[in-house]
This record gives sequence, C-alpha cells and structure tokens, in this order.
Amino acid sequence: MKRICLVCQNVDCKNRGSEEIMKELQQRASDKGLDADWEVKPYMCFGACQEGPNVVLYPEKTWYAGVKKDDVGEIAEHMAGGPDVKRLDTIDASLKDLIYQLLDTGVF
Ligand code: FES
Repeated sequence: MKRICLVCQNVDCKNRGSEEIMKELQQRASDKGLDADWEVKPYMCFGACQEGPNVVLYPEKTWYAGVKKDDVGEIAEHMAGGPDVKRLDTIDASLKDLIYQLLDTGVF
C-alpha cells in the first residue's frame, strides 16, 4: 500500500498557501523518486483550521502544522526516510488521535 501525504485544501489552509504547498510536495516527491511509495493528495479538513496549512503523513501518523513553502524540502526529506521535522509537530495530542482514528477507518 502506498503511503499518503494529505494536504488540507479547505478554505483556511488554502488561504495560507496549502495549494502551492501540495504542488511543491508532489514535485519534490517526484524529484526524489518517491512516486512508487507515496501519494500526495488533498484532504478536506483536519479540524485544526487556525493552525494550518496542515499536512498529515499516513499511516505513520505524523502531523505537520503551520507549514510554509520553505518547510516543504524538509518534509520531503522525511518522506524519503529522513528525520521528523519536530518544530512543525505542534498539534494537540487529543485532536491528533481523533483525526488518526478517522483516517484509520479509511476516510480519505
Ligand atoms: S482548513 Fe485546513 S484543517 Fe481545516
């Protein structure tokens, strides 16, 4: 199964540049030859709209918040097996659990 990089494309995240971030992540994943392992795709909303743009890696369950275009390279590095980008891991654990449970049900 491909791993998934979900990039919120709802209004608040989009207003903060999530569309460009998604395109850049798709490009970087492709440049790094990650297409066979990863799919970068839009998500409807993670319920943390004020913390966006939000990016969630699944099934490994990493949530990056407040992502800026400058962060995309490090996220792509992580997707390629590099370290977590800890400074972007700022979302409350209970909200994370809720969203991860939803994703575990197969709602994408
Ligand atoms: S608008 Fe992105 S989390 Fe809701």
